[in-house]
Amino acid sequence: MSEPIPAPSLTLHPIGYVRSGKQVKFQTLHQPAESTEERNLIELLPDQDYEHALRDLAGFSRIWLVWWFHKNPNWRPLVLPPRGPAQRRGLFATRSPHRPNPIGLTPVKLLGVEKRVLIIGPCDLMEGTPVFDIKPYIPAYDSFPDSAAGWTDEVDDGFDGPPSFTVRLTPLALAHADWLRTNWKVDFTARLLELLSRDPTVHRGRRIRRRNESQFVIGCGAWRAVFRVETEVVEIDSLEAAYPLRFLGDAEREGIPDRNAQLAFIARWKQEKGVTDSPTVRGVKPGPTTRRVRPQ
Ligand SMILES: C[S@@+](CC[C@H](N)C(=O)[O-])C[C@H]1O[C@@H](n2cnc3c(N)ncnc32)[C@H](O)[C@@H]1O
Repeated sequence: MSEPIPAPSLTLHPIGYVRSGKQVKFQTLHQPAESTEERNLIELLPDQDYEHALRDLAGFSRIWLVWWFHKNPNWRPLVLPPRGPAQRRGLFATRSPHRPNPIGLTPVKLLGVEKRVLIIGPCDLMEGTPVFDIKPYIPAYDSFPDSAAGWTDEVDDGFDGPPSFTVRLTPLALAHADWLRTNWKVDFTARLLELLSRDPTVHRGRRIRRRNESQFVIGCGAWRAVFRVETEVVEIDSLEAAYPLRFLGDAEREGIPDRNAQLAFIARWKQEKGVTDSPTVRGVKPGPTTRRVRPQ
């Protein structure tokens, strides 16, 4: 083998930033879902003549975004993809964010161009993600629908079709979800139901762990859901604030998502030290489940 040529280090400058409002990873999809109705923005930087660079782009219904996983400090050669069985895969055979050069690549619907702002459809980028480049998506060059997709083909065979589990919320969990939605406009139940209806088994990548003999916990960004599984039914017992009070009350700690909502939740629902262990809360009796959900 010939001697490798030492690679120069490169300096890249963002051309703009994503405004998706998604403050935590849990809120962002693993890949953009075509079926969801979403409007996100990419704001390009001023004084760079990017307005001219955007000329002629509006005629394309899709664009590629080349971007930086700026919230990922490290990379790993083997990763645990969130879909499918808990099996590690070689990083380069996945779309994991944990890459030596954390570059993301996402095709998104282009809904409009207004001066230096692009209006785009569903995306898998968090709020504030730096964008390095934009290219038109050209089906003749970029689409090869018959290509083999390695291990994802096997996993998707089991994933396509109807969800495997029915998910229900207890009255307490319903009360938590309604209170969060009404008072804080926090609503992560659709994503929670989607994930649990597919596979509620313990999995680090899906942030599911066992809490005790009968209960499991799934991390949902700033929140958690406690649930049980019996054959093909998942019952969500309660929702919880994910951060402990000592973090929430520490003004030095920056960037805690939904901080005030978490503090108010703990006060309202008497959540002790960031954990609701008892499902019995004044005014809400644990009892038969009231809502059965089968996500589309
Ligand atoms: C599985 S990756 C796929 C990204 C891109 N479509 C790709 O294939 O390169 C998408 C996930 O990256 C994470 N993510 C999004 N924006 C990020 C950011 N700025 N920094 C770190 N992680 C981010 C979110 O958890 C999201 O669900």
